[in-house]
Amino acid sequence: MSIFIGGAWPYANGSLHLGHIAALLPGDILARYFRLKGEDVLYVSGSDCNGTPISIRANKEGIAVKEVADRYHAEFESSFQRLGFSYDLYTRTDSGNHHQVVKELFLKLFDNGFIYKKEIEQTYCEVDKQFLPDRYVEGKCPNCGSKARGDQCDNCSKILDPLDLIDRTCKLCGSEPTIRKTEHFYFALSAFQEQLENYVHEAKVNGLWRENAIQLSERYLKEGLLDRAASRDLPNGVSIPVKGYEEKKVYVWIEAVAGYYSASKEWEKKNKKEDKSFWTAETISYYVHGKDNIPFHSLIWSAILLGINNPALPTHIISNEYLTLEKRKLSTSQNWAVWIPDILDKYHPDSLRYFLTINAPENRDTDFSWREFIFSHNSELLGAYGNLVNRTFKFIEKFFEGNIPASNLSKEIIQQTEKLYEEVGKLLEDGQVKLALETIFLYIRKGNKYFDAQKPWVQIKEQELYCKDTIATCVYIIGNAAQILSPFLPFSSEEVKTYLHIDEFSWQAIHPKPIQLQMIKPLFERIDTSVIQEELNLLRENAEA
Ligand code: MF3
Ligand code: ZN
Repeated sequence: MSIFIGGAWPYANGSLHLGHIAALLPGDILARYFRLKGEDVLYVSGSDCNGTPISIRANKEGIAVKEVADRYHAEFESSFQRLGFSYDLYTRTDSGNHHQVVKELFLKLFDNGFIYKKEIEQTYCEVDKQFLPDRYVEGKCPNCGSKARGDQCDNCSKILDPLDLIDRTCKLCGSEPTIRKTEHFYFALSAFQEQLENYVHEAKVNGLWRENAIQLSERYLKEGLLDRAASRDLPNGVSIPVKGYEEKKVYVWIEAVAGYYSASKEWEKKNKKEDKSFWTAETISYYVHGKDNIPFHSLIWSAILLGINNPALPTHIISNEYLTLEKRKLSTSQNWAVWIPDILDKYHPDSLRYFLTINAPENRDTDFSWREFIFSHNSELLGAYGNLVNRTFKFIEKFFEGNIPASNLSKEIIQQTEKLYEEVGKLLEDGQVKLALETIFLYIRKGNKYFDAQKPWVQIKEQELYCKDTIATCVYIIGNAAQILSPFLPFSSEEVKTYLHIDEFSWQAIHPKPIQLQMIKPLFERIDTSVIQEELNLLRENAEA
């Protein structure tokens, strides 16, 4: 099977924070899982180096857009790598390849009649002497009345045109923009109304999308799809490939989502796999992002694919709700955030992956608090999993000189283990990453209960053979737990794999060999709870600064 996994493309205008990773992590878990199963996987993403947020940042710092993009792209690469993200390709939208693919796609839509030219009215700032990008216009949302940007209201999710806003101001200088006539290209989204209605209905019936993706898409469809601007007056981005219009740029929601396709092309070229397409009707695709990205993937990207006769419409939409921080909305402008490079300097990447999965904002917003984070590390990751590994390995060192006994395994546990692969696999394929991890930890806790009930420390004195059975069974549990956990906690799983001399992980129960354990160290260190207050202080200080 061909499995395509597309992670959302973060804007290269500031460091990644916990919210980004909470939204993106399921993509890596899925990619790792499907590879273990032996499927053909292509997992791509990249830095969004175009668009307004980056030019705002570059203006502020008085440097070129490219410099900002270079800085954060490098940092993202490093953050993703430290977190164990296993992208087959992590690229960027300011690459020559991306520009070329987007231009071809634009022209194809144009030739097929789905992109057309139109004269429109647009906000123009007389002070800054320029047409204003959507996000440069601020005002009140006509729908809910809260403060909104010209592209979208974060409060009520309504997609907006800057002209819809009440009491408009220019973000650059604060003055009220005027309105001027200009020519733009439009994407005929409305032409796909019926096809998309059927498509979303299918997804709903088959339960392949997250509930929030279904609901929001249905809402847009019910309101009736409107044609959307395909070009923008922006300083940076992909130029419109039509003579006389090269100064204008392809609008982000056609340009950025096309990154999934351009990245595939780049990967094919780099790996000499031009014959291998992940864009067929048979491809299973997972799109993984935060809820603010839903319509762009579920409707616009699908419409673009329909418009170029590409049959590989998204099959699964894994759209996450938001992560709050200490019960408050994350805010980069107020520095109410935990930045990924900082947290990785101090904590184990698997601790973070564990927490963000077991508290994944799948169906509702969830909260990151330092207290919960430290407790989940100490009591679950270390307390359940680390403990099972540690007490078993320590026992083997102490009583068997490090030699894992070859012995009879509990039949019941073998059965439970084999069932676990099926259960967890099914949950993952349904995008239920949190429940999948909970299920594995239930198994691990049962492993600990088994250890306690068997009392190998008593057995060793009275019934050594039974003791060997117990310990061999525990090693079997550990080996399989590590293997099943490897999509979630790749670093610690890798350690167990080395300890147990496992050649390669797969998605089938393994029977660890009776080898001799060497140089065993605990998988996780206990974190002193005093850091909770320290981290809270740091967070508050930085937010106030
Ligand atoms: N950079 C945009 C955002 O973060 C778009 C991300 S997803 C993409 O909202 F596929 F559209 F690129
Ligand atoms: Zn609103």
